[in-house]
Amino acid sequence: MSLPRIIAHRCGGALAPENTLAGLLIAARIGCRGVEFDVMLTADGVPVLMHDETLARTTDRQGRLAVLSLAELSNVNAGCRHHPAFAVSPVPTFQSALALCADLGLWANVEIKPASGHEAATGRIVAEQLAASPMAGAAMLSSFSPVALAAAVSAQPALPRALLVEHVPANWSEAVRQAGATAIHCAARHLSPETAAAIACTGLRLACYTVNRCEEADALFSTGVSALFTDRPDLWLPAEM
Ligand code: G3P
Ligand code: MG
Repeated sequence: MSLPRIIAHRCGGALAPENTLAGLLIAARIGCRGVEFDVMLTADGVPVLMHDETLARTTDRQGRLAVLSLAELSNVNAGCRHHPAFAVSPVPTFQSALALCADLGLWANVEIKPASGHEAATGRIVAEQLAASPMAGAAMLSSFSPVALAAAVSAQPALPRALLVEHVPANWSEAVRQAGATAIHCAARHLSPETAAAIACTGLRLACYTVNRCEEADALFSTGVSALFTDRPDLWLPAEM
C-alpha cells in the first residue's frame, strides 16, 4: 500500500474535536488513509491523545494534563468546543486510538508531544506501546523534542520516524541521518521550492503542515512534497488521498 498523500491533522482535522476517536471515524468515513495525532503522558504514565500541555483550549477543564491520572482524566470532555454532535468525546488513550486505526485500516503519524520535563519517558513509553500494537507496521513516529525522539529510538530502534521541524535546517541531510529518519515533516509556510526539490531528489518523504487550501496543496505537490497534514481532508476525493 502506498503511503497517504492527505493526512488528517489531529485525527480528523476540523471535522471533529481534535485528537479524539470521533476524528478517526470521520477521517476514515470520508476516505482518508492517513491520520496524525499528538500523544502526551498522564501523571501515572499512560499515553493519551492531547496537543496542549493545558486542558483549557480543547476540553471542559483547566490546568495541566500531566498532573492528572488516567482515572481523573476519564471525566474530562474533549468534545465540548466543537459541534454539539460531538458533545461528549473523551480524551482517548493512545492504545484505544491505535486499536481503532488498525480496525479502520488507517496509517498513523504518531507525534510524541511530551509535557515539559517528561520528554524521555514519553518517547520511551509511546514507542514501546506502538511496537507492541497492531499498528507497528503502519505508523511513523515524530517529535519536535529531540530528547523524546531519541528515547523512542533507543527503546524501539526499528520503528520508522520523521524529523519534525518548523524550519528545515540547512544541515537537514545530516540531521536526518543522525535521527535515522526516512522523512522530514515541516511547516509549509517556511518551505522553499528549492529546498523541497532538493529533499525530494534524495527519495526522502517530505510532508508539510498545516495545509487547508487546494491551491497551496497543488503548489507544494508540484515542488516534490509527498504528503500534507490538513484540517480539511474533506477537500479531497478518496482517490486523491
Ligand atoms: O506533526 C505535524 C503537526 O501536527 C505539527 O504541529 O502543533 O499541530 O502538533 P502541531
Ligand atoms: Mg501534531
